[in-house]
Amino acid sequence: MAKEATKAKPSSVPWLVMASAKGGSGKTTAARNLAVLAAEKGHNVLLLDLDRQQTLTQWFQRRPAEAKTLSLATFPLKDIEAALPDIEAGISEEGISLVIVDTPPGVEEQASSVRMLLKRAKLVVIPSGQGTPDLAAVIDWMRFLKQEKVDAAFVLNRVKRSARSYDRAKLTLNEAGPLCPIEVRDLEDIQMTYDHGLGVAEVKGAGGADDFRGVWQYVSQRMGV
Ligand SMILES: Nc1ncnc2c1ncn2[C@@H]1O[C@H](COP(=O)(O)OP(=O)(O)OP(=O)(O)O)[C@@H](O)[C@H]1O
Ligand SMILES: [Mg+2]
Repeated sequence: MAKEATKAKPSSVPWLVMASAKGGSGKTTAARNLAVLAAEKGHNVLLLDLDRQQTLTQWFQRRPAEAKTLSLATFPLKDIEAALPDIEAGISEEGISLVIVDTPPGVEEQASSVRMLLKRAKLVVIPSGQGTPDLAAVIDWMRFLKQEKVDAAFVLNRVKRSARSYDRAKLTLNEAGPLCPIEVRDLEDIQMTYDHGLGVAEVKGAGGADDFRGVWQYVSQRMGV
């Protein structure tokens, strides 16, 4: 992809970015489950794993042959400027219709790379747990995204509805920025499907499939895809 790739212009294909200033909040889980649902709706999805831990890549490598086809590219966030021309060329060559990006924890500390990524983002999904330290971190991140004029939405993840922190988390996030009205519960099946390279929507009867369907409905409407 040498010469043409370096000349490739940014395509109009939308990028959905999972990013949160809090580690372990559910970015990779959201990326893989939303990718599966987008593919189910007919999208040709390219996943970008920008995390050195490569959790998404390891999941991708475990996908069974009969599972919905997804594409994947893996490189560290700091290399995004160098990688973009090849990625853009690949998007048009492969007929990609949606890019879903998984980012590492501590993304807010890589300002110049993250700004480059955010320029391409149609929507940033900010997964958050319901605990107080989670909320403080993601609210700061939402403030930064607003300053950068990037569309974003909180998605509550690993929700325990019976805990007292639940109602407070919903109110606090809703005040700080757009909050996806459908949340993802704390469910064992979500962890289990990781080991099998699947999304919860690909396993009959798995808990959490409707949770992620609701999140996909919201993000796809926000993005107009
Ligand atoms: N809704 C959920 N229910 C149960 N377990 C979950 C849920 N969401 C995430 N997990 C589990 O929590 C852990 C962290 O999730 P995940 O890897 O998606 O977070 P992350 O934000 O990508 O983390 P990191 O910042 O390290 O990249 C994983 O073990 C995952 O299986
Ligand atoms: Mg991750």
